[in-house]
Amino acid sequence: MIIPSHHVYATYDTLCDAVATYIYTNIRHGLQKTGTFVLGCATGSTPEGVYERLVQTISKDKPDLSGLSTVNLDEYFPIQRTDPQSYYQFMMKRLWEPLADLSLGFVPDRQADIPRGDAPDPVAECARYEARIRALGGVDLQLLGIGVNGHVGFNEPGSPTDSRTRLVDLTESTIRANSRFYQGDKTKVPRQAITMGIGTILDARELLILASGKNKAPILDKLAALPHAIPDIPASALVGHPHISFFLDQDAAHSV
Ligand code: GLP
Repeated sequence: MIIPSHHVYATYDTLCDAVATYIYTNIRHGLQKTGTFVLGCATGSTPEGVYERLVQTISKDKPDLSGLSTVNLDEYFPIQRTDPQSYYQFMMKRLWEPLADLSLGFVPDRQADIPRGDAPDPVAECARYEARIRALGGVDLQLLGIGVNGHVGFNEPGSPTDSRTRLVDLTESTIRANSRFYQGDKTKVPRQAITMGIGTILDARELLILASGKNKAPILDKLAALPHAIPDIPASALVGHPHISFFLDQDAAHSV
């Protein structure tokens, strides 16, 4: 498949600088134009440096953030919000609290949402989440990482292109990859997650896929070599989005 728009940076640091600048420019523009902006956030190691720089830029420029909302791609299930491994805590630590501390009008309780990993009724939670995204007017810019098996959010291989937010089982390969956050102990990794579906992600007005490191080169190579999208590589369903860009570092880019 032709990878439409892709930008390659020499290092992880320069990649993060560029992505943070790109996101911030979009947020500023959106806020000025319509008064609101909905940023779709991703977790994982790749966006960590992006959030750090985004907060730095915002702390210098001091825009009014009362019109900014964020929604996250996914959350483990079951997991408590107080669990340090929850994506809720990841976002609190990396983005929401630092933004709230700047007193620019960003109030996480009101403006940040993520699926609840502690929901008593996960089906109802998925419906609530879809409704929240719709009520916000949809996602303006969705940030995405990519799993080594091509998953996006927690849409594992086989995920239907029209899938919506739902409870999913994680594959062995994802559990293995994410066990690095659990001292390598696979048995501690939650076996399920609530994730935006491929269809939910495709509804965003713009998609940004980030990848860093040599371990992402094989999946990106595979993606580039595909003649068309296949359910086995969920990320391939996103390549046809009218406004998608790949931001990669040199190690991940390989032959893309
Ligand atoms: C997790 C997340 C994905 C993320 C992927 C890659 O499983 N659910 O949203 O994109 O891992 O993460 P990393 O950036 O750490 O490689």
